[in-house]
Amino acid sequence: MVAVDWVGGSVRFIDQTRLPAEERFEQTADWRVVEEAIRALRIRGAPALGVAAAFALCLAAGDPRITSMNDLQLAFRTALEGLAASRPTAVNLFTALARMRRVAEHSFPSGVAAVRERLLREALAIRQEDVDACRTIGELGAQLLEARSTVLTHCNAGALATAGTGTALSVIVSAWTQGRIARVYVDETRPLFQGARLTTWELGRAGVPHTLITDSTAGSLFRRGAISAVIVGADRIAANGDTANKVGTYPLAVLALHHGVPFFIAAPTSTIDRETPTGDDIPIEERDPAEVTHAGGIRIAPEGVEVFAPAFDVTPQELIGAIVTEAGILRPPLASAIARLAFPADGERAEVR
Ligand code: MRU
Repeated sequence: MVAVDWVGGSVRFIDQTRLPAEERFEQTADWRVVEEAIRALRIRGAPALGVAAAFALCLAAGDPRITSMNDLQLAFRTALEGLAASRPTAVNLFTALARMRRVAEHSFPSGVAAVRERLLREALAIRQEDVDACRTIGELGAQLLEARSTVLTHCNAGALATAGTGTALSVIVSAWTQGRIARVYVDETRPLFQGARLTTWELGRAGVPHTLITDSTAGSLFRRGAISAVIVGADRIAANGDTANKVGTYPLAVLALHHGVPFFIAAPTSTIDRETPTGDDIPIEERDPAEVTHAGGIRIAPEGVEVFAPAFDVTPQELIGAIVTEAGILRPPLASAIARLAFPADGERAEVR
């Protein structure tokens, strides 16, 4: 299953809001459909957002009605701004947009056909880098787990959230094939149930033993000594190692510390944002209150109730035992491990925010 793909000049993606009831793929040549899919979480997960946004810019530039460079530049800028405003927290989106913009600007003097060709080449490179990163993260991260571990994960950091095999779930599946996993506990992940709907679906297909729990059950499992490690993905990792991930991640890190259980993040280096100094500087998306007042389309709270609906929270770096990236396993002190990483594109992302 490939969550987001480029097929015959269009973007093909699985509509994640319909899972697990229905495995429906959408195919579109309209960048606005991709933008709407990102806003509505039909396409979701930090690395998948970057790949989808890059492909969406190819669609915008490739519109057959465009014949002049002026029209192409206007269409590209409009799409760039629309996509940049879609979801604010996952930095992979902005990294991808910045890369695509740089390629476009360098190619504008070479003509419409050259811009289109180079944009597609860059988008395919972003996709391939993510595929490769997922594989390496899985291999490296598996080494962190002891034989027959019981692992807790939150949200969905699997193939659905990337162009490849996932981040945290890549580690889990790889560790399972090595006999390092006895069972995975899956937080349901209120309010949109990415754990219940998506992670269980992926683990079931991979044949990994798993148990679904409500988010509030995690504490009881820690207390019983039933969790040997926590592993989750990330939406943005600040320069000091503070990490934004799906809301509900931070309480797991606190529980893990209290119970002496290691807490790991798995994320590609494209999720690290060295221009954001700390977690306090990470923009946290707030979602529609209806996502909290309703479950499965049914109202569960009184009309007019006040709602606070952040999509993400920040886990402070001192609670994180290691960050598994494709460039290696980063260990505390995370600020200096991140500073030592060599990767391009620093300084560009801020321009498209
Ligand atoms: O709101 P979502 O579903 O896009 O949130 C996704 C997460 O929080 C994931 O854990 C994160 O993007 C990592 S995905 C490899």
